[in-house]
Order: sequence, then structure tokens, then C-alpha cells
Amino acid sequence: MRVAGKVALVTGGARGLGEAQSKLLAKEGAKVAIGDILPEDGNRVANDINASGGDAFFIHLDVTSEGEWQKAIDETVSRFGKLDILVNNAGVGGRGGLEDMTVEEWDHVMAVNAKGVFLGTKLSMPEMLKAGKASIVNISSQMGIVGSDTSNPAYTASKAAVHVFSKSIALRYATKGVRVNSVHPGPIDTPMLRSGFDDPERKQKVLARIPMGRTGIPEEVAYGVLFLASDESSFITGEGLVIDGGWMAQ
Ligand SMILES: NC(=O)c1ccc[n+]([C@@H]2O[C@H](COP(=O)([O-])OP(=O)(O)OC[C@H]3O[C@@H](n4cnc5c(N)ncnc54)[C@H](O)[C@@H]3O)[C@@H](O)[C@H]2O)c1
Repeated sequence: MRVAGKVALVTGGARGLGEAQSKLLAKEGAKVAIGDILPEDGNRVANDINASGGDAFFIHLDVTSEGEWQKAIDETVSRFGKLDILVNNAGVGGRGGLEDMTVEEWDHVMAVNAKGVFLGTKLSMPEMLKAGKASIVNISSQMGIVGSDTSNPAYTASKAAVHVFSKSIALRYATKGVRVNSVHPGPIDTPMLRSGFDDPERKQKVLARIPMGRTGIPEEVAYGVLFLASDESSFITGEGLVIDGGWMAQ
């Protein structure tokens, strides 16, 4: 029970990495609000958690919407009494390279991956400060630290934004009881990765760069999120935790 008594809001919690994070946080004692734009999957994850003795609910949350953020935070606090863990996990991969990427696609990726993290961090901060000992975990990517010729350029730019945004907010709140860290997964087997692996050449290129010779599984990232969310990491803020099978060691 590594997060017993805590209340978490996980965005993009309806599938993939967010599903694993929601389930692990619940298993380790947190009450969990699952915010996503996929009600069917989100309710399934909440039902799974409740069926195994946890306490979770799904709420529709488009992370690009300030109004939906405020509703999700209010609903979480009204049901569970407080909010002390926020996992900004929702994200989109984006399509195209440089010359075939539209302005609309750039704006969409930046809106979900970067503006979404800003909005969640800003709007949850009053509750985080009230909680007194709170943790924000932002899901970036190893592509938020190094360049990539296989990822959408807006994706890499948005993940780099999340990386240094997290450090900047960590510094502002370091003495106020709110820790802010980022997690940088390498290729992990989720619907997002599988859709990018439709292109066999890209798949081969990505796999060849993973020293461990395999993609990760969502639980391997969820354990990193759990550690940063819990009080076990009480002296860690402004840090980026890379979980990538060795990719960044090269
Ligand atoms: N899978 C990987 O290899 C990998 C690697 C590095 C980083 N990441 C990051 O991890 C996070 C989770 O990715 P995943 O692989 O589980 O992807 P996924 O596509 O399987 O899941 C993403 C979730 O985010 C939700 N989402 C999308 N737009 C949203 C919006 N506007 N508002 C709320 N929810 C929204 C989706 O509905 C979905 O449930 C993302 O931020 C992604 O960039 C993934």
C-alpha cells in the first residue's frame, strides 16, 4: 500500500500507459479519478478497479478544455475529499514528418500534449497546495530529451516542452509541498505505439535502437509513476525518470 490514503487523477487513464498507472495506483491504496475522452474504456478501467476492491470513477476530460479540467478536479475533490496526485499522462502521437504536417496537426498535438499539461498543473495547484504533500507526474518521452527521425516533430517538441515545464514548476513550488517530476518512456507496447508500427520500416528502425531488444510493457512505466507519486520519492523534484530499455544510454 505505497500510496494509501492518497487521491489521484490520471489523464488518458482509459487505456495504454494510463490504464496501467490507474490500476497500480489503486492497487497500492489510492482513490483514482480516470479522466479521458473515451467513456467506454474509461468506465471499463474504473469498473475493473472497483471490482477488485479499489475506489475509482471515470470522468470525461478533454485535457485541452479548461472547463472540463475544472469540472474533473471539482468532481474528484467532491467525491474523494482532496487531490494530492496528478498524473498528466494523456497524449497523442501526431501524424507526418515535416513537409506533410499541417498547421492543424501541429496545433492539435501541442494542445493535447503541452497545453493539456499546463492546464492540469495550473488548475490542480490550489488543491495540491491544500493537500500539503502533493506530487505531479508529467508523462513526457525519451523524445522530449533527444531528437528523433522516426517521431512526428510536433510530438517531440511537445514532449520537450513538458520536460522543462516540469522542472520550472518544480522550482516554483519546491518549498510549498508540491513536487513535480517527469517520466520519459521509451517504446512501450500500447495502442499508440502499435499504430505507429503500421509502417514496417519505422518499426524495424525503432526496435533496432532499443538495447534490451524489446519494447516495454505499461506496468514497467507505471512502477516509475508510482514511485514518483508516493512519499518514497519525497526528496525528488524537477527530475526526469527515463524508462526506456537503455535507449538513452547510447
Ligand atoms: N507508448 C509509448 O511508447 C510511449 C512512449 C513515450 C511516451 N508515451 C506517452 O505516454 C502517454 C500515454 O501514451 P499511450 O502509449 O498509453 O497512448 P494511448 O494512445 O494508448 O493512450 C493515450 C490515452 O490518452 C487519451 N487522450 C488522447 N487525447 C486526449 C485528450 N484530448 N484528453 C484526454 N485524454 C486524451 C486517449 O483517449 C488514450 O486513452 C502519452 O503522453 C504518450 O505520449 C508513450
